[in-house]
Amino acid sequence: MLLQTSPTPTATRTHGPWAQRFHLMPQAGWLNDPNGLCQKDGTFHAYFQNSPDQVDGGLKHWGHATSRDLVRWEPDGVVLSPDTPYDAQGVYSGSAQVHDGRIWAFYTGNVKHASHEVAFDYVTSGRDANVLLATSDDGSHFGPKQLLLTPADYPAHLTCHVRDPKVFASPYAQGPAYLMLLGARAKGLDRAHDRGELLVFGSEDLTRWRLENQIVSPEPMGYMWECPDFLGLGTTSATSAENRCPQKEPLNLLSVSPQGLEGPEAGSNVYPSGYMAFAGSLVGAHELGRFHLWDGGFDFYAPQTFTAQDGRCILIGWMGMPDCPQHRNPTVSCGWQHCFTVPREVVTDGAQVFQRPAREFYDYRSSLWLGDGSLQVSGVPCFDLEIARIVDSQCSVTVAGGLTVSYDQTSHEIVVSFEDRLAESLGGGRGERRLAAPALTSLRILGDASSVEVFCNGGAQVFSSRYYPRSYSVQASAPKAAIRCWQLDV
Ligand code: FRU
Repeated sequence: MLLQTSPTPTATRTHGPWAQRFHLMPQAGWLNDPNGLCQKDGTFHAYFQNSPDQVDGGLKHWGHATSRDLVRWEPDGVVLSPDTPYDAQGVYSGSAQVHDGRIWAFYTGNVKHASHEVAFDYVTSGRDANVLLATSDDGSHFGPKQLLLTPADYPAHLTCHVRDPKVFASPYAQGPAYLMLLGARAKGLDRAHDRGELLVFGSEDLTRWRLENQIVSPEPMGYMWECPDFLGLGTTSATSAENRCPQKEPLNLLSVSPQGLEGPEAGSNVYPSGYMAFAGSLVGAHELGRFHLWDGGFDFYAPQTFTAQDGRCILIGWMGMPDCPQHRNPTVSCGWQHCFTVPREVVTDGAQVFQRPAREFYDYRSSLWLGDGSLQVSGVPCFDLEIARIVDSQCSVTVAGGLTVSYDQTSHEIVVSFEDRLAESLGGGRGERRLAAPALTSLRILGDASSVEVFCNGGAQVFSSRYYPRSYSVQASAPKAAIRCWQLDV
């Protein structure tokens, strides 16, 4: 069936054919990490790393957008710029807390010193990473910046790489009221032995912070841990998978984006992002579980979570990848690059962790195509495809004629694969990604103008990828399974 798409809205026209409809994208320039995610008085606020004048990345600011429902985002331009000696080379990543009716934004002020006499390497010398705070009533206008931490506050065994404050209310009855995680790179005997770790600071008032703890993995996991986060799941229905009783004890997860991680758990991207089960206390003794990738796709890094006012744990990732020149993003010629993933609800059944598109997406489902075992839909860029009760993992979906999701019965892996791997093709040079799974029982794919997000087995495995179709189509085959595809009217 062919469905004519509606005329292109103005914003979409100026951003070219691959402008996203429901994924947060920059108004101009380059976007990377989600920052300062929060909800205040019902409105969702998302900030993001933004180089408004440099489409390939450069001096970082915080861009801002708001949403009433996590689906439609209103752009609000740049709200924090590098304009003090403490953040002169970048308003780097950080987080937010809603406190006393204001948004408190904590971020890393990046400072790079220049010298004619000394050759700085910017790893052990020449760089400062400060923690700054700025607060706002409305999320758009911030008051004066306050310097909270400088390198003098960090332990001496660290390099100059210490960043990405994640601030949250302490989950513990004892100890400080608020905690801040900072990602760090510790000095090795030589550079090859630098090691990622976390600092835990505590505070009673969100302004005075004291070092409480350091978290390292039993074995080294790469040379630097970026964008740390901490999630407690499963004790409320908002963070539990359906039909399971909430647990007494939360399943705590520590999330990090380690650089330099090697081995099978690191996946195939330049840098992975993942989580580890966390037992014990952030301010005391603890144990870390195995590292699991959040997302096995080509484009996913530096996710951040926040707790919505209804108690849901919402995760948003950067749908992009740093230091990855082999993937082309042809939106560059339209003056913008990268976007966020859709906001995802993170839930657990006590054993596994699942990610699902925010439930608000159901409200945007319109035209429906139904298939018994197979289905073909053409001309619909924004779609929500759902395949339930897949029999014997027999399922194959091809999007835009060249990106296929299937299950490899021999290796027991879910496979996401571009047929054509050339730079000018649908995937802009992207190839194939795989994630191990004992079976494929259900599949949901959210398609936007230039991205797909693939949720497998109820969201136990997820793949995110940008793609650049010339025409849109979905071809699904899953013998005896119920296939439904909705147009998303965003
Ligand atoms: C992760 C990251 C952060 C840093 C920011 C700078 O992608 O490197 O560690 O704060 O990006 O844009």
